[in-house]
Amino acid sequence: MNKNLRQAIIAGNWKMNKTRPEAKALVEELIPLVKDADCGVVVCVPFTNLETVLNAVKGTNIKVGAQNCHFEKSGAFTGEISADMLVEMGVEYVVLGHSERRQYFGETDETVNKRTVAALAAGLKPIVCVGELLWERETNITEEVIARQIKLDFYGVSADDLKKCVIAYEPVWAIGTGKTATADQAQEVCAFIRATLAKLYGQAVADAVTIQYGGSMNAKNAAELLSKPDVDGGLIGGASLKAPDFSEIVKAAK
Ligand code: 13P
Repeated sequence: MNKNLRQAIIAGNWKMNKTRPEAKALVEELIPLVKDADCGVVVCVPFTNLETVLNAVKGTNIKVGAQNCHFEKSGAFTGEISADMLVEMGVEYVVLGHSERRQYFGETDETVNKRTVAALAAGLKPIVCVGELLWERETNITEEVIARQIKLDFYGVSADDLKKCVIAYEPVWAIGTGKTATADQAQEVCAFIRATLAKLYGQAVADAVTIQYGGSMNAKNAAELLSKPDVDGGLIGGASLKAPDFSEIVKAAK
């Protein structure tokens, strides 16, 4: 297992936080703190902040992502945003299938798959989130749940396109709860994700895919999680809203 085969990426998922002035202030504070990062640095911000943040990060090493996109190219889908709209703005990444969207907005593996295919076709790099619920872990079906999500969410995605994707393993019970998976638990599932990809696409392709851990990752626990061979980065919620905390996590990713 060679971590040099893939890029480490630390991504912030701001969720539904920050007005435009707040977003500008946060990203301006972050720029000097992460300028020497050894890993990819991405901030996934609310749609309303995309333009502000894209302007603020011009010429820096920070990349910008959205938190969802629709699977149709255009049309009568009130309230939705297409992948092409994001690409035209200069957005590079998009979070898809986050557990909050699955839980609160009826997102299914089928719609995550459609969004993933549409995002790739438009030229975006999807950060596809998978993860088990607490009772799924407790009933020992974590691997079944994850395998199903991986197989369905990436259905029809070619090997070349898969290499443009990031997978975020986010155990639902660890999100926003302060309950982090242990580094061993995170490693176990990230390795299982890679093994599942290897079965579907071959080992070389699986080895090239960045797999992040997400769920209460913070400045204190990041180094241990990121030291694991199959944990290639993090998708950070709460701790991405404070520039010093987020930059500490970035520093932990070597
Ligand atoms: P927290 O870091 O707040 O637990 O959120 C994780 C997450 O959902 C990132 O997408």
